[in-house]
Amino acid sequence: MRARTLSLLLHLLAAAASSFTPSASTDTIYRNTTLTGNQTLVSAGGIYALGFFSPAGADGRTYLGIWYASIPGPTTVVWVANRRDPVANAPAALQLSAGGRLVILDGNNDTVWSTAAPTVGNVTAAQLLDSGNLVLSADGGGQSVAWQSFDYPTDTLLPGMKLGVDIRAGITRNITAWRSPSDPSPGDVTFKLVIGGLPQFFLLRGATRVYTSGPWNGEILTGVPYLKAQAFTFEVVYSPDETYYSYFIREPSLLSRLVVDGAATQLKRFSLNNGAWNSFWYYPTDQCDYYAKCGPFGFCDTDRSPPCSCLPGFVPRSPDQWGRREWSGGCVRSTSLSCDGGDGFWVVNRMKLPQATDATVYAGMTLDQCRQACLGNCSCGAYAAANNSGGIGVGCVIWTVDLLDMRQYPIVVQDVYIRLAQSEIDALKAAATGDHQHLHKSKLIVVIVATISAVLFLLAAAGCCFFWTKKKKASKKGEGEDMTSLPPSTADFALPYRVRSQPSLSPVRDHKQLLDASEETRYATDKDVDLPLFELEVILAATDNFAGRKRIGAGGFGPVYMGVLEDGQQVAVKRLSQGSTQGVSEFMNEVRLIAKLQHRNLVRLLGCCIENDERMLVYEYMHNQSLDTFIFDEGKRRLLRWQKRFEIILGIARGLQYLHEDSRFRIIHRDLKASNVLLDRNMVPKISDFGIARMFGGDQTTAYTRKVVGTYGYMAPEYAMDGQISIKSDVFSFGVLVLEIITGRRNRGSYEPDLDVNLLGYAWMLWREGRSMELLDEALGGSFHHSRALRCIQLALLCVEAQPRNRPLMSSVVTMLASDNAVLPEPSEPGVNPGIMSASSDTESSRTRSATANYVTVTRLEARSTTSTGHSSL
Ligand SMILES: *[C@@H]1O[C@H](CO)[C@@H](O)[C@H](O)[C@H]1NC(C)=O
Ligand SMILES: *[C@@H]1O[C@H](CO)[C@@H](O)[C@H](O)[C@H]1NC(C)=O
Ligand SMILES: *[C@@H]1O[C@H](CO)[C@@H](O)[C@H](O)[C@H]1NC(C)=O
Ligand SMILES: *[C@@H]1O[C@H](CO)[C@@H](O)[C@H](O)[C@H]1NC(C)=O
Ligand SMILES: *[C@@H]1O[C@H](CO)[C@@H](O)[C@H](O)[C@H]1NC(C)=O
Ligand SMILES: *[C@@H]1O[C@H](CO)[C@@H](O)[C@H](O)[C@H]1NC(C)=O
Ligand SMILES: *[C@@H]1O[C@H](CO)[C@@H](O)[C@H](O)[C@H]1NC(C)=O
Repeated sequence: MRARTLSLLLHLLAAAASSFTPSASTDTIYRNTTLTGNQTLVSAGGIYALGFFSPAGADGRTYLGIWYASIPGPTTVVWVANRRDPVANAPAALQLSAGGRLVILDGNNDTVWSTAAPTVGNVTAAQLLDSGNLVLSADGGGQSVAWQSFDYPTDTLLPGMKLGVDIRAGITRNITAWRSPSDPSPGDVTFKLVIGGLPQFFLLRGATRVYTSGPWNGEILTGVPYLKAQAFTFEVVYSPDETYYSYFIREPSLLSRLVVDGAATQLKRFSLNNGAWNSFWYYPTDQCDYYAKCGPFGFCDTDRSPPCSCLPGFVPRSPDQWGRREWSGGCVRSTSLSCDGGDGFWVVNRMKLPQATDATVYAGMTLDQCRQACLGNCSCGAYAAANNSGGIGVGCVIWTVDLLDMRQYPIVVQDVYIRLAQSEIDALKAAATGDHQHLHKSKLIVVIVATISAVLFLLAAAGCCFFWTKKKKASKKGEGEDMTSLPPSTADFALPYRVRSQPSLSPVRDHKQLLDASEETRYATDKDVDLPLFELEVILAATDNFAGRKRIGAGGFGPVYMGVLEDGQQVAVKRLSQGSTQGVSEFMNEVRLIAKLQHRNLVRLLGCCIENDERMLVYEYMHNQSLDTFIFDEGKRRLLRWQKRFEIILGIARGLQYLHEDSRFRIIHRDLKASNVLLDRNMVPKISDFGIARMFGGDQTTAYTRKVVGTYGYMAPEYAMDGQISIKSDVFSFGVLVLEIITGRRNRGSYEPDLDVNLLGYAWMLWREGRSMELLDEALGGSFHHSRALRCIQLALLCVEAQPRNRPLMSSVVTMLASDNAVLPEPSEPGVNPGIMSASSDTESSRTRSATANYVTVTRLEARSTTSTGHSSL
């Protein structure tokens, strides 16, 4: 009886709910439902919402759109149905017609917009999916899709959307900016695929080409050569049926979108980060990204001044214009082609391929065959490999048109073979060899040096070390003046000291073993890895067989023990955990890098030990452990008065400056944080843990990594989100560290109870309100130097600015710290640390930390690309 009443009640409720309006939160409308007013469809996982909205300033014109359900209000609209056909008289209503069309009606029940009549199936439902796709299909889903919003992008490419053409379906998908923020109708700026020759994407303003991705060579888009995806994967599919670009997000909680920005005329990727949309990735980025900047047969290189040059064998068309920095006229041949078999080719490398929409592609032809094809056609000016899938280089492309939009990169992208008259080639060859005889010589020297160092390294990696620095010399260097030079050459190493001349392992096996697990093997042939070798017995004796009580913490790849050598010297021994492959690569990295560095503010490596399965690094012992054990400890942080904290900040800044600018190598630490700053007997700070540091060569300033490692809370946003590594990502971590030292609070996990902000946000809020002094650790007890403390806060805020280019170099930081008179710029809002993955990161952690370090250091590995379509970095 009671049961029947209940079921009747439920029945009535259900009927009431389904009458003409969608119930609370549904993702589907049927033929019997109408969506109107503020009602929305919300995708099953609560990610996207669909409904009517009216942009501010649109005079009440109403549009049907899709936005993020988690962001209050339709503020970030990613799709608009009726961008050209707004509803002028409310209320607007959305229905699924009996004929299976989605229609928007205005207040007079007139149809203002509708989808085409379906050609397939019996459309009975329109469903909003968690991908942000609105799909018309037969009830029950899974059936054939009659229509989908993904086929009609507006200004935003969401993950999984395709940008390009579907030849079978006759659909062209591009993204076009809104006319203005109050008007979603199509504006001037579009990003689209152009087919013909090799696929290539263009950013256009009207009919004018502003930027191009460069041709797809089967492996990468040659204008976007850096592999920097860590949270993203990409594909370009190029087949007779369809050609498109698409991207995917590996971290499901990360919201990200690719948008055409009409005002800036840029293609931008935005990622949501602590409630704010950030864009660190945009094109065009630099002057060489602008389309055909250097004209026909010219090429652009940001590292040259002026940036434009003519290809070898070419001269400016108008030297006058060229001299006035007007490069669009481009270049012409110095000697015309003979075209009777008297021509040859000159290779230019590291190139973005010339525009290839009008080039001729030969799939399956080898490079040699292509050369012949080019020689056989008088109008052919160049050829290159295309379809590089897997580096095999099947297929090629020839240009019988002007070579446009080339640029040279500092990294390997692609070779282009330029056709020149034989006399030009002879001249170029003579210039390369004749004039530069010494080049030849130095090449030989390089080869010899490389060979020697490879051999040395082989032995060094296996035995790790043969020599011992003269002890006196070593101790002299440890303290006292800053050492900006390298360790002495091997000739300076003498006195064997607790060293065996031959390691107990076979050198080759061990070397290979180490390198196999090492991710960045390209650094493996570095010179001067001459580290003293300790015998295992010595280490065992020093640490009482790794007694538990000797354990003092954990480093990046294993536990750390305190030890005392025979002569009474105290050391810290970092022992690689057994079976950790990650650890082996970090171990090698640390050996390679730190062995070359000496500075008062860097921890010093005394030697290593590789025996049987043991791998250990031996450091000078740091009596006061790590900085975090002081600044985050209620009792101990009272011991750190202002002057001491200031000296620590200055010391860390100097150590970092040495890494970035003063050593012969440019080194990015990548994991600077309180637990990686050690304090010696005199509280002098020493940066430690180089397990994931990166060394940059020559002029390289930025790199991209597919593997983001580091510690959330300290990671610069552009690094965490886009994998961009530069010295400026370390500067960000430094800024966080300074704030932590001053406040005695952690950036992560120190949320202001009443304000939903972390330390950076809190510091910024107080700064804007002129209350910065409230930030200072009360444990300082008023010991601080008022104006200097304020300067430290200002400096820290400058270091954590969102845009890397606005952050100061460490040399400026040191100057600003050391001088009370230097004028500091006004900081702007800090970049937010990635808050994503905060909950799940613990499970991903693979760099384990000591108990004192509550921070989680995270490693995220990019999965390998699954298809032959490969990666690009759009
Ligand atoms: C509306 O249609 C759907 C599917 O066709 C059906 O499940 C639902 O019961 C209908 N609602 C009403 C009130 O007719
Ligand atoms: C619905 O939208 C109107 C404006 O169109 C607004 O005034 C009203 O507050 C909204 N109602 C709800 C429940 O959000
Ligand atoms: C529009 O159609 C609905 C339902 O079919 C009806 O209730 C309403 O009166 C109509 N409005 C106008 C202006 O015709
Ligand atoms: C389409 O589906 C509706 C509801 O399921 C049904 O009433 C109608 O007969 C179907 N029409 C055809 C042509 O299958
Ligand atoms: C973008 O695509 C739409 C739909 O196919 C098309 O109408 C429009 O002309 C395209 N825009 C450009 C600039 O190619
Ligand atoms: C790339 O090479 C593969 C293997 O030879 C071939 O099947 C494919 O058609 C080529 N694609 C293009 C675009 O040349
Ligand atoms: C040279 O190549 C172009 C482009 O493929 C072609 O149109 C032209 O016919 C070729 N000329 C000769 C002589 O083969």
